Amino acid sequence: MKVPRRKFLHLAACAAALPVVSRIARAQSYPTRPITFNVPFPAGGPTDAIARVMGERMRVALGQPILIENVSGAAGSIGVGRVAHAPPDGYTVGVGHWSTHVVNGAIYDLSYDLLKDFAPVALLPANPQLIMSKKNVPAANLKELISWLKANQSTAAAGTAGAGSASQISEIYFQKITGTRFTMVPYRGTGPALNDLVAGQIDLILDQASNSMAQVRAGTIKAYAVTAKSRLPSLPEIPTVDEAGAPGLYISVWYGLWVPKGTPRDIIAKLSDAAITAMADPTVRMRMTDFGLEVPPPEQQTPEALGALQKAEIEKWWPIIKAANIKAE
Ligand code: MLT
Repeated sequence: MKVPRRKFLHLAACAAALPVVSRIARAQSYPTRPITFNVPFPAGGPTDAIARVMGERMRVALGQPILIENVSGAAGSIGVGRVAHAPPDGYTVGVGHWSTHVVNGAIYDLSYDLLKDFAPVALLPANPQLIMSKKNVPAANLKELISWLKANQSTAAAGTAGAGSASQISEIYFQKITGTRFTMVPYRGTGPALNDLVAGQIDLILDQASNSMAQVRAGTIKAYAVTAKSRLPSLPEIPTVDEAGAPGLYISVWYGLWVPKGTPRDIIAKLSDAAITAMADPTVRMRMTDFGLEVPPPEQQTPEALGALQKAEIEKWWPIIKAANIKAE
């Protein structure tokens, strides 16, 4: 049977439009099943904690469960790779931070491009690090800790979450500013490293306030300074690095959500709105503040603002990290 030319062209146009129509329909009905948050560090650590607080509230906004999948190793670069290569359908969302989405690009030969292979979704809260030791290190303040480290440089050991992690970069920075030397012991995340600090297996760690706050308050470890220009409202007795004797050692670990590049814009908007709604929730804000996490102002929570911050941080940190010659283990 011969199909008239006009009808043929009409049918061809309809067929060509089908994938677009079904993509739009999928974006409109999204989400219809559980969403997975990929956390590139172990359960019980700071990245895991923020993912769980956000996920719990975003579940309400999105109307679907949020599953947490911990894919740790190589300072988060393995888990982030999983997100880069996942289908761009909004069902895999990466939770990352300053070191996974900025630092790792300067030291690992990654199978993905940190800017080109992801679409930013939302900037999440940030927190500084605390300089901490196990309980029985005989130091009453940061200056005494520095002297103790100098006297024990052949045996002192600090935990890290691997080359390129926030903990390792801040420890290298700390060594440089204070002229100290100690061995760095890599873990898959600072959750397990902190457990070893509490147990006295390692001497030292520079870790995010959110992860260590509870142990500091309980007196199971000692905190000497916070890597920020001002004290933490939730831990006001701990001095800043400037006050305590490591001037200028500022590290802020900011978090974000990313999806694989190619994820439809409507889906990114739904995820971003859910994250922004979560960060406006008084219960979430209270939990974040209690952890020492600072929620960014609303205009900085957008996908565009996260993209701009990530790019600016890459431009700032890559030259510093490359000059420091930090290598993947
Ligand atoms: C973690 O969740 O274990 C940390 O974010 C690791 C780090 O970068 O120090």
